[in-house]
Amino acid sequence: MALGRELSGPIAMKTWVVLVAPSRAEAVRRALRDQGLLRRDLRAVRTAAQVAFPVSRAPARKLPGTRLEEREIGPARSRPRSYRDLLELDPVVQKLLPRAFDVLGDVVLVRLPAELSSQAERIGDALLRFVPGARKVGWDQGVHGTARIRRVVPIAGSGPWRTLYRENGLEFVVDPEQVYFSPRLAREHARVASEAAEGETIWDLCCGLGPFSMAIAHRLHRSRIVAVDSNPAAIELLRENAKRQSVADRIDARVETVERFLTSAERADRVILNLPHEGIKYLPSVSAAVAPGGTVHYYEVTPHADASMRESEILDRLQPRGRWEVLDSHRVHAYAPHADLRAFTLRRR
Ligand SMILES: C[S@@+](CC[C@H](N)C(=O)[O-])C[C@H]1O[C@@H](n2cnc3c(N)ncnc32)[C@H](O)[C@@H]1O
Repeated sequence: MALGRELSGPIAMKTWVVLVAPSRAEAVRRALRDQGLLRRDLRAVRTAAQVAFPVSRAPARKLPGTRLEEREIGPARSRPRSYRDLLELDPVVQKLLPRAFDVLGDVVLVRLPAELSSQAERIGDALLRFVPGARKVGWDQGVHGTARIRRVVPIAGSGPWRTLYRENGLEFVVDPEQVYFSPRLAREHARVASEAAEGETIWDLCCGLGPFSMAIAHRLHRSRIVAVDSNPAAIELLRENAKRQSVADRIDARVETVERFLTSAERADRVILNLPHEGIKYLPSVSAAVAPGGTVHYYEVTPHADASMRESEILDRLQPRGRWEVLDSHRVHAYAPHADLRAFTLRRR
């Protein structure tokens, strides 16, 4: 049988194994782990019919549905390639497991389809074991409300959501339950910062906890950065992070709506506008406030079906009309099966 073939090999060694049907394997693996019996130096052997877990000695009490045998077992693989390799689910359910997840410091966030809700804790446990240094795993149920805060359900681990996250050589305190933050924008934060120039007046509208502002302030010492967000928790975190980076004196952080800010703002050379579902409504007034030669970095969720027309639709909104060009537009990441988050770099002539 397949199990016998897998057990042979030049560096296999004799050990006790607990044999169990695949449907009970995860529960048995946990029980063996909790009793400190699971051997990590030897690999568990899985076949369609059964799973063999190498153990250091026989369990004190026989676990239901298991059998104990002595077998030749090979050494453990150095590391599983995916957290999915750590799960023993029904094959139909296994196929629904997402490949991607986000790591924010020692917090892991994963989006799960509703069909996996009954498996959420097992998935959380697998991620906790798979991601080096992970402390807590949350089921990311998406952003909501004006502040675009995530609804996060704890599924494994412990402690607060607040954590320390590193990107592009900077260190931020993030708190996914209080303030929007996406590690999928790390390249954008660096790209926009690399395009900004010394001496510019820069507005970071809908700044969140300030990853764009912070990346720019870290690189440029003589720019005037105004960071605006209506979520007070975002500005509080931005200020804390700016102090941590020693750039607090370079960022004027304000709890304000974009609408209100624009009524008193003067001119900007560069504007970042990252409010992907609604930002379009601010483009006419924002663009009118940009100096000739200035730039707007605009982000939005674009349905695939609209992608080809989108540049000209955006240009139509910009003021003064006819004075703007699209320097670049690119996909940042997939947002939904039929839409992407896209970045547009718009320049006033
Ligand atoms: C998608 S998040 C972007 C955060 C940040 N720019 C980033 O890249 O991490 C949008 C942010 O806009 C803020 N926001 C939403 N409506 C706003 C408004 N009318 N005026 C100011 N900020 C607003 C939310 O509080 C949220 O922090």
